[in-house]
Amino acid sequence: MLWILDVGAGPGDWANGIADRYPKAKVVAVDAAVWETDETEPERKNVFWEIDDLDVGEVPGAREAEATALESQMQSMSIRLESLRGRADSKAEDLADTGQDQAVKLSPQSSPPLSEPRGWCFTTLFDFIHIRGMKGAFTSWPAIYAEVFKSLNPGGYVEVVDFETPLQSINPDSELRRLISATWEAAQKSGCALGTAHLDPAAFEAAGLMHVKTTTVDVPVGMWHEDEEQRALGKKWLVCCIEGMEAMCLRLLTKEMEWSVERVKEACRKVADEFLSGMHDGLTTPFRFVVARKTRNGAEG
Ligand SMILES: C[S@@+](CC[C@H](N)C(=O)[O-])C[C@H]1O[C@@H](n2cnc3c(N)ncnc32)[C@H](O)[C@@H]1O
Repeated sequence: MLWILDVGAGPGDWANGIADRYPKAKVVAVDAAVWETDETEPERKNVFWEIDDLDVGEVPGAREAEATALESQMQSMSIRLESLRGRADSKAEDLADTGQDQAVKLSPQSSPPLSEPRGWCFTTLFDFIHIRGMKGAFTSWPAIYAEVFKSLNPGGYVEVVDFETPLQSINPDSELRRLISATWEAAQKSGCALGTAHLDPAAFEAAGLMHVKTTTVDVPVGMWHEDEEQRALGKKWLVCCIEGMEAMCLRLLTKEMEWSVERVKEACRKVADEFLSGMHDGLTTPFRFVVARKTRNGAEG
């Protein structure tokens, strides 16, 4: 009997799909939010839904290591890093008012850790753990990977999927660039960074996971590609980006950056207009699929 865990299952597209593909497997689908499910979907006997927050807070020293990884990622994306650790009190400037790239302040103290580190408490071990689209969901990825390691059967696999933000390829004078930079800063302030340092093979290896394999798929944003299939893919992804933008930014920007709801909505409208006017033609988003394994004996084999 195979046990599969979907972390942050959302409305359950992936969990339902894998349950149909492997009808003898049992799939545990967990999400912190209550989703309205599609009533036309058949009820599956091999999917078990749980509502739970799978954030586990921090592990000692992990935030420091994460901050280092994020620093280098943000530097490579040309987000100006004015200060890094220990500057929690610095007040961020208002990005949209200056029209400049925002200085992003990473601080291990900027978000208080949850009071007690909490572990996952599943009563079974899993053969496969799936984590897709979860950047920005957790306080500490090293702590999450420690739970993944503990929750996997020896020989089991984890797959983590997320997309990179190609900030360096985005027109610096665009609303898109300003909105993304502000959202990154807001996420950092909230304590759940939006970077993708957790996709680095070293992050998996540090948790004891081995045989890390990364596959990258570049997805066009919009319908600018010559190839018909890529154009169709780009259209779907553009719809996802435009439809999902407000959901991605609204809470972060209103809570952490004191933007008004109307200001966020206006920025999202402008970004949609930029895409539709062709301003961002040529842009692609790299999606990374990282698979790693808990080996049977903790060694290479
Ligand atoms: C971008 S969606 C991804 C959904 C799904 N994994 C997919 O790829 O279709 C992120 C999901 O993670 C859930 N989520 C965010 N933080 C979470 C947490 N700490 N614990 C459990 N679920 C969380 C959200 O409610 C949301 O459904």
